[in-house]
Amino acid sequence: MKREAVNFINNLIKKDAQTPFYFYEMSVLENTLKSVAALSGNYGYEVHYALKANSNDTILQQISKYLPGADCVSGNEVKKAIETGFDAKKVVFAGVGKSDREIDYALDQNIFCFNCESLQELEVINQRAALKNKTAHIALRINPGVNANTHHYITTGLEENKFGINIWELPSVLLLLKSLSNLKIIGLHFHIGSQITDLQPFRSLCLKVNEIQDWFDSQHIHLEHINVGGGLGVNYHEPDSAAIPDFAAYFKLFNDFLRLKPNQKLHFELGRAIVAQSGSLISQVLYEKIGIKTRFAILDAGMTELIRPALYQSYHKIENISAASDGNGFLYDVVGPICESSDCFGKAVPLPETKRGDIIAIRSTGAYGEVMASQYNLREIASSVFMP
Ligand code: LLP
Repeated sequence: MKREAVNFINNLIKKDAQTPFYFYEMSVLENTLKSVAALSGNYGYEVHYALKANSNDTILQQISKYLPGADCVSGNEVKKAIETGFDAKKVVFAGVGKSDREIDYALDQNIFCFNCESLQELEVINQRAALKNKTAHIALRINPGVNANTHHYITTGLEENKFGINIWELPSVLLLLKSLSNLKIIGLHFHIGSQITDLQPFRSLCLKVNEIQDWFDSQHIHLEHINVGGGLGVNYHEPDSAAIPDFAAYFKLFNDFLRLKPNQKLHFELGRAIVAQSGSLISQVLYEKIGIKTRFAILDAGMTELIRPALYQSYHKIENISAASDGNGFLYDVVGPICESSDCFGKAVPLPETKRGDIIAIRSTGAYGEVMASQYNLREIASSVFMP
């Protein structure tokens, strides 16, 4: 962690800040936003920020200054996006299980588009729109059958996943749409998974989209936009030197391989790549415990603040920012206080000698950290602090 951030955190702790807390480096977020806005803008692409990755108000207010579009998966996310400065006309609403109430709310806000995931959902949105005398703009979320080669819990583009409409269902979808007069189809939507660091699956997605587009052409259906979802991964091993993902290569790949039709616009829904590297979970060591084979560092943060390691066996870099040097130390199992064996942030983590009271930073936790917190064991929700 950079010296400036360490000093900032130490000052907070001196002033009695209570750990654990989420710490956000707003300059990292801003540099990331500048990069993604400029590089997508070069091609005329539109990026909707995926609120599910982080919906902290301060973070959202900053993001909406650079990216006015939002990708939401609940009525509350749609509401939050609009409240924090995103443009309702650039909100997409996705999700396999939208309730009637959520659909009604989004219709009232005149959002850009519903990303629809099943035939029955099309019927329900049509019904709700008819009751309001409105036409709902929809995109079909198509399951492209592309393997993202990521953790199976965050793979979404395969037929066995619950997401999207399968390609073989498309003829019946078009037939159905003819009878749904309060819907207007304006696009196609895809999303193959998350934390994708090898760009190859995105290339496969482009080729698949080209095929599907040709089929829609043969049916004489013109679509205003294609939405290829999110999923670009970040480098969890190098939070400082690789703080900004390679957006240039990512957007170039779509420009090279995805054949847009005349006047068609390409949309993205990025979450993790925008916010992950700006956040760290800050915690204190409560106890050191020397087991038969293992040294434990027991933190005051646990899976209630950050569930990713327990749920996806995910790696986060762990740093002892109190220790004077990174020099000779020990291998620690870094664990939390929750009554679950899976409450472990890392096994055999090399750390300098670590003592009660030392401050530990768990890095790259800006995405899917704070938003997935729980109050299991009746714990308090951690607060968040922001360094300009
Ligand atoms: N669009 C759709 C339809 C999605 O399902 C997702 C994420 C995104 C966009 C944004 O994906 P991103 O750019 O952030 O990869 N909790 C998990 C990740 C779940 C991702 C769910 N969908 C984790 O901590 O790794």
